[in-house]
Amino acid sequence: MKYTNRRQSLGSQFSRTLFVIPSGELRMRSHSVAYRFKVASDFLYLCGVEVAEAYLVVAGEKSYFLSDHIGAASALWEDVNSLMSEDLEKLFNIEFAAVSKLQDILQDHLRDFDRLAFPVGRSEWLDRTLLEQVSFQNRRRSRFTSIPLALCDSRTLVGRLRHKKEADEIDLMRMAAQKSSAVYQELFQKNLLGASERDVANFLESEFMKQGMHWTAYETIVGSGERGTTLHARATERILRSGETVLIDAAGEWQGYCADITRVLPVGKSFSKEQKTIYEIVLKAQKEVLKKIRPGETLASLHETAQQFLLQGLKEAGITGEISELMPHSTSHWIGMDVHDPSAYVDESGNAVKLSEGMSFTVEPGLYFRDKSSAYYGIGVRIEDDVVVTDQGCEILSSASKEVEEIENLRSKLELN
Ligand code: GLY
Ligand code: MN
Ligand code: MN
Repeated sequence: MKYTNRRQSLGSQFSRTLFVIPSGELRMRSHSVAYRFKVASDFLYLCGVEVAEAYLVVAGEKSYFLSDHIGAASALWEDVNSLMSEDLEKLFNIEFAAVSKLQDILQDHLRDFDRLAFPVGRSEWLDRTLLEQVSFQNRRRSRFTSIPLALCDSRTLVGRLRHKKEADEIDLMRMAAQKSSAVYQELFQKNLLGASERDVANFLESEFMKQGMHWTAYETIVGSGERGTTLHARATERILRSGETVLIDAAGEWQGYCADITRVLPVGKSFSKEQKTIYEIVLKAQKEVLKKIRPGETLASLHETAQQFLLQGLKEAGITGEISELMPHSTSHWIGMDVHDPSAYVDESGNAVKLSEGMSFTVEPGLYFRDKSSAYYGIGVRIEDDVVVTDQGCEILSSASKEVEEIENLRSKLELN
């Protein structure tokens, strides 16, 4: 019923908007082999199945599932398009049709709608088909209404439903965060001397898979030494050196839901004095933001809190610099089925969305010293956790160690040469 309810909510919240949501197409990776297929999250949210080249139409109370592989016998070569029997169990209160029926379905329904919403740019074929359909509809539409049929992007509209997570979604997010956190605990106890950034990424990714996760939530980020000041450093062959820190931003996806966690740890057993100073400033700012989260706050006000405590910490340590340069990113983003969930950050009046129970987002202040003249040059620290808003505050979903003492204790057990 979950998916039927979501489609019905979408249809009733936007009763004048007809939605067409493609599951996504296979993209070629090399001459004759495609990339691994990742279903579009809005499609998965609304019908629960992971097949390529299918289209969902939500027209008020009526929904259609369009695919050319419905009830296909077991496929000989590829089955990424084919519905499995467990998929069919999820698809009820929905009418099945071939993809070629899309134009007919639209023509049957569009008279009753003012807008046609779809994720613009996901499928060239769909972009073209819907544009043709709007052009066709508007040529004859003036006979029965003065309102032209409009095309719009569906992402933030579906995003409005996805803003507040349902209880079972929170369970899945908690699992994604806990499984990912467990992998960090393993990492803290690993000897990293002589390892490359790629070795670290390989370790994390294989552990995520051993935890039963099928995907990483995003490309694993590993920045060692001064590469920790690149916000999204790709793991390279660079060897981790004693005395450096390594910034790791990595997490897995559990049953369609993402975690997003960043930790910084010493390559050896302990942080240097300068590394520790910066780390403690960021940690304090992160904890102050976490304390402030409750319904009614906004992500903008949390960002101000982060900046305020970072500035205070820098001042106390006698460190100067522009906060917009030292922390050039936001403190938070929505998270859910996408690591950057597509819900809007402002409401229809342009005001920042007020937090309410069930909304989930990251808290990830950071400081990055990229100025070569600074005594702190090359230090990059970001500490990132995932939270869900509760009635009085928040639940922190991720639990990887972040206190200096805890991390140093874990690392002190290493047998280093
Ligand atoms: N891992 C990407 C981000 O923190 O937004
Ligand atoms: Mn993030
Ligand atoms: Mn991250």
